[in-house]
Amino acid sequence: MQKITPIIGLQWGDEGKGKGVARIASHLNKKDLIVRFQGGNNAGHTIWHKEKGKQRCYVFHLIPSGVFGVAQIHLGAGMVINPGALKVEASTIPKNIPFLKRISVSPHAVLTIPTHLMLDSISEQKKGKNKIGSTGKGISPSYTDLTLRRALRVGDVFYPDFKEKYKNLSAEHKKTLQNVFGYKISAQELKEKEKIFFEGINFLKTLRIIDSAEIVTAAIKGNHKVIAEGAQGALLDIRFGHYPFVTSSHTIAAGVATGLGIPPSFVGSSIGIMKAYVTKVGEGPFPTELGGKKSAVWCRDKKVVDEKNKFPNPNPNSKDEWEQGVALRRFGHEIGATTGRLRRTGWLDLPLLRYAMEMNNSRELVLTKLDVLNGFKKIKVCTSYIINGKKTNKIPFDLSRVDVKPVYKTFPVWSGELSDYGKKLPREAFTYVKFLEKELNAKIIYVGTGPEEDHVIERYWN
Ligand code: GDP
Ligand code: IMO
Ligand code: MG
Repeated sequence: MQKITPIIGLQWGDEGKGKGVARIASHLNKKDLIVRFQGGNNAGHTIWHKEKGKQRCYVFHLIPSGVFGVAQIHLGAGMVINPGALKVEASTIPKNIPFLKRISVSPHAVLTIPTHLMLDSISEQKKGKNKIGSTGKGISPSYTDLTLRRALRVGDVFYPDFKEKYKNLSAEHKKTLQNVFGYKISAQELKEKEKIFFEGINFLKTLRIIDSAEIVTAAIKGNHKVIAEGAQGALLDIRFGHYPFVTSSHTIAAGVATGLGIPPSFVGSSIGIMKAYVTKVGEGPFPTELGGKKSAVWCRDKKVVDEKNKFPNPNPNSKDEWEQGVALRRFGHEIGATTGRLRRTGWLDLPLLRYAMEMNNSRELVLTKLDVLNGFKKIKVCTSYIINGKKTNKIPFDLSRVDVKPVYKTFPVWSGELSDYGKKLPREAFTYVKFLEKELNAKIIYVGTGPEEDHVIERYWN
């Protein structure tokens, strides 16, 4: 029997899952299946797709990244879906891609309604310095309503009492906004948002609605491949990430079973996606951050233009680590795909990667953005931590309450650009990749050498 292959981000999101999934999806057939099992449009999965010889960039938030392939695509039970956003996203896909015939949605997925977005942004604002740095897409309030057992789900839209249920939930939210946060919604603002929401509901009604378990089980039993596209990353998991600086769903491979309603035995080992360095959007601990706290505060408070003014040409070999981090951000275009925020940058952190790989049973890895290190003379990799004077690989219960000193190993970087070496890796890059495979005890199947779909070196794929 085929097993589901989860594709999981092993860091704090934005590892390049979209491109990885699209690449793997290009090997799939018509009856194979790509599913999302958690999260909502807080995700931003970028892919470059070639049309008529020209590369075009797409960012997917809800629709699985394999949409340009031929496989079936499914929005699973564990997701939260903003129907207006889904309709807009669907409209960005070129008309010659007949994806509407291949897409289906679970009736169990939770609906994000307009007041969820307001609750998300107002509650973040009120937290002030203690904010999580949410994407503001209403994800946490949507999942909160699920556990409060009052959420609206996709299957509800087909019943005559849907509008009434919607009004009741929206009224509850309005009360909370006013009584708890002192925020009164303008009727006009809500009206405009509701118009988009109900247009989205009408669009949703035209799609195939089917239980995730049914479609996944049929594919597996028919010996077809099933890929589960993770959103966010293992370190943002609601329970095993750096709580409370996490998202509101189970982003790890175990979430595939609960997010689709299938037995855990259906889930095979995962393919982990990792960047050649680390980035993070939002608040929370980051042991290997270049520039430490200075970087965290800068990325929280400043915009892209501020950074371009201060560092028109950041030097990757500067003595100031903060500037090196800025160079990494500039070279890697590390700007949030969903929010436009500056992503915090740092060196690769092996203790965190091992933690994430164990949780996800990652046997194979995709290493992305190696090309971003072009121009650096030396790069560092954190191989272990020193905590309370002792060397350790163990991730403490609360990373933000201990003083963590990373232990680094330094690697020389190739001269010129990775693309100068064609489909071969320069010696220095090869040494780095081999080192990672040994340290992480896994195969690196793809190495990303640029953002476009062809910018990849395939190492073990048949
Ligand atoms: P995701 O959320 O994990 O799908 O990642 P994002 O799409 O948010 O961010 C990854 C970014 O890196 C996108 O802009 C991709 O186009 C880009 N990217 C992916 N792989 C590579 C790579 O190997 N090299 C470079 N330079 N960019 C890449
Ligand atoms: P993809 O799938 C990076 C982060 C937010 C914030 C925290 C909670 O593109 O990798 P939320 O809106 O979920 O309540 O925000 O999680 N976050 C992401 N960071 N990539 C993502 O998705 C993210 N989705 C949420 O920045 O710190
Ligand atoms: Mg992203």
